[in-house]
Amino acid sequence: MVVLVVGGAGYIGSHTAQALLRAGHQVRIYDNLSTGHAFLAKGFELIVADIHDSATLSRTMRDVDAVMHFAAHAYVGESVVHPRKYFDNNVASALVLLNTALDCGIRKLIFSSSCAVYGVPQSLPITERSVRSPINPYGASKLFFENALEAYDRAYGLNFASLRYFNAGGADQSGEIGEVQDPETHIIPLALQAAAGIGPPLRIYGDDYATPDGTCIRDYIHVTDLAGAHVLALQRLAPTGESFSPNLGHGEGYSIRQVLAIIKAITGCSVPCSVVPRRPGGSADSHRRRHTRAATVRMDCQAGPARDRFHSVEMAAAFPATLAA
Ligand SMILES: NC(=O)c1ccc[n+]([C@@H]2O[C@H](COP(=O)([O-])OP(=O)(O)OC[C@H]3O[C@@H](n4cnc5c(N)ncnc54)[C@H](O)[C@@H]3O)[C@@H](O)[C@H]2O)c1
Repeated sequence: MVVLVVGGAGYIGSHTAQALLRAGHQVRIYDNLSTGHAFLAKGFELIVADIHDSATLSRTMRDVDAVMHFAAHAYVGESVVHPRKYFDNNVASALVLLNTALDCGIRKLIFSSSCAVYGVPQSLPITERSVRSPINPYGASKLFFENALEAYDRAYGLNFASLRYFNAGGADQSGEIGEVQDPETHIIPLALQAAAGIGPPLRIYGDDYATPDGTCIRDYIHVTDLAGAHVLALQRLAPTGESFSPNLGHGEGYSIRQVLAIIKAITGCSVPCSVVPRRPGGSADSHRRRHTRAATVRMDCQAGPARDRFHSVEMAAAFPATLAA
């Protein structure tokens, strides 16, 4: 299939582009490079343009069979302070992308949704049937697009997969691509930088959660597992035409302090850190439950056994740009 990877010069999109290529698909990347990097799209045709540019999208989509939509702003805290920026890009521009795809006759779309659509879960584990009630504009923007996809499916026969990621981590084992974000807000690269002495001490946002060590428990999924799930989701969409919306996580949560302990076990370095107050708009899996199980990945198109808890850290540590940032 010819697959347009929109946002494919970013972290998860670039890993998915590689996975699609390995699976025999023809891949084209479309990205405005606002947070992405041309080097992450190396080896692919890269169209540098914005998703609100319907004319360029139409030209690019002429022979495309399926669209994977990764392009979004994705900082929860920023979305609370600048909601307009989030609704402009993640909703208004995303609708231009969706409508253009439809006008070009494309009926398969895979969307990067988020566990942020669930807000504060009423019970655990979070399943696909849990109530979707986001608590920040970022999550609301993701839910809006999920709702649009559901309506377009009913009205226009669009087949979609909304993949609700938990927290992505790690890097491709080639060491060529990985996470390069500025500002970096994700714990694994930040903690590695702090441990290496090239970043400030890690800030732990709150240690008063009702978890065994008081720090927030999250579910982390390896970016290579995430990329593989996209390929499988595309395989499943094609023959059945049935839309679906799975959670994509590891299935087990880890607290911030557990992540720091894993980093110490792998690198031999302690992570300097300090505890600061909780952040506004804190994410869905920052729950207060005692049980650590935070999410389910067991979608029927899972790539195989999820990589173990050490692998995200090992691969992030092996990606040179993590420590060069
Ligand atoms: N990283 C995570 O843990 C995580 C978790 C849940 C959901 N997600 C979602 O996954 C997707 C990818 O996230 P990521 O971590 O790879 O982020 P990223 O910032 O690395 O990738 C996003 C890419 O989209 C591009 N982009 C943004 N707006 C665009 C526009 N208007 N036109 C064209 N290109 C545009 C950026 O330049 C970037 O290359 C996002 O939709 C994000 O909300 C990520």
